[in-house]
Amino acid sequence: MSTSVQFHDQHGDATGPAFREDVIAGLASSPKALSPKHFYDERGSQLFEAICAQPEYYLTRTEEAILRAAADEIAAQVGPDALVVELGSGASRKVRLLLEAIHPSRYLGMDISRDFLLASTRRLAADYPWLEVHAAWGDFSRRLALPSGLAAQRVVAFFPGSSIGNFTPREAEAFLTRLRQALPKGSGVLVGVDLVKSSDILEAAYNDAAGVTEAFNLNLLSRMRRELEAEVDISAFRHRAIFNAPASRVEMHLVSQQSQAIRLGGQRFAFAPGETLHTENSCKYSVPGFQALAARAGYRSRAVWCDDAALFSVHYLSSD
Ligand code: AVJ
Repeated sequence: MSTSVQFHDQHGDATGPAFREDVIAGLASSPKALSPKHFYDERGSQLFEAICAQPEYYLTRTEEAILRAAADEIAAQVGPDALVVELGSGASRKVRLLLEAIHPSRYLGMDISRDFLLASTRRLAADYPWLEVHAAWGDFSRRLALPSGLAAQRVVAFFPGSSIGNFTPREAEAFLTRLRQALPKGSGVLVGVDLVKSSDILEAAYNDAAGVTEAFNLNLLSRMRRELEAEVDISAFRHRAIFNAPASRVEMHLVSQQSQAIRLGGQRFAFAPGETLHTENSCKYSVPGFQALAARAGYRSRAVWCDDAALFSVHYLSSD
């Protein structure tokens, strides 16, 4: 089988997501909050794929259409012989458009969800026999280093889906700065960025009628039960997603329906009725707003592509 993937374990050491420590710290903080990276266990990764197919969730199909329409222009911007590095590769579907347009010799997928990463990179290796496929399992928000052996080649970092929106603008700027410093000279970044729009469209995208986003959000509590043996009454929490216009972000919360507690490792974390666990920020930008952020991180905006309805943007940035 031509499904060989070179696997790099960047997770086994202290760079991992430390789910237990993060949950305890998040439940102890005020207001209670948890990083959205913890959504992505096996089940969460599957639920996210299902979200991408919901009619209200315009992000995925819009970005795909932009990439399809701009593939040749993107390939021209990227130039030849770049290593394509996908951050948060998930199911690695959108990157196929890039791989087919750029025809690079090497691809590296980085993801926090091990089995998901392996399955999707194996599919890529099987479908593109000409491509050398690498998989790095780890938390790129904490550790960005390229596996040795790949560190010399010019990179195009592909950060699709508006995952950059999970960072606050300050965090995004710091992350892009670190990314610039971690990549060899001449590298570029292709990043998908969701745009500000009416709160109706935004809130619908995070409150799909089929309840998939709700299940995705509640899966965090299931994960706490499964993996941490937490005692938590999942039925006593509700999914909420609202657009916080002043902060220009969609926020997801798990709202306690009553006075209750989550018990974890001998500790008790009390929730008042209506108190929330803040599980995600999804920051939304204007095109110039994001370009200004990228400039503060040391990049020049080389090209921007949008759909006709200006729902979503894809930016090509380089530092020289
Ligand atoms: C993968 C972070 C881009 O914020 O839109 C989808 C995750 N959360 N529905 C997003 C998500 C709820 C998604 N990102």
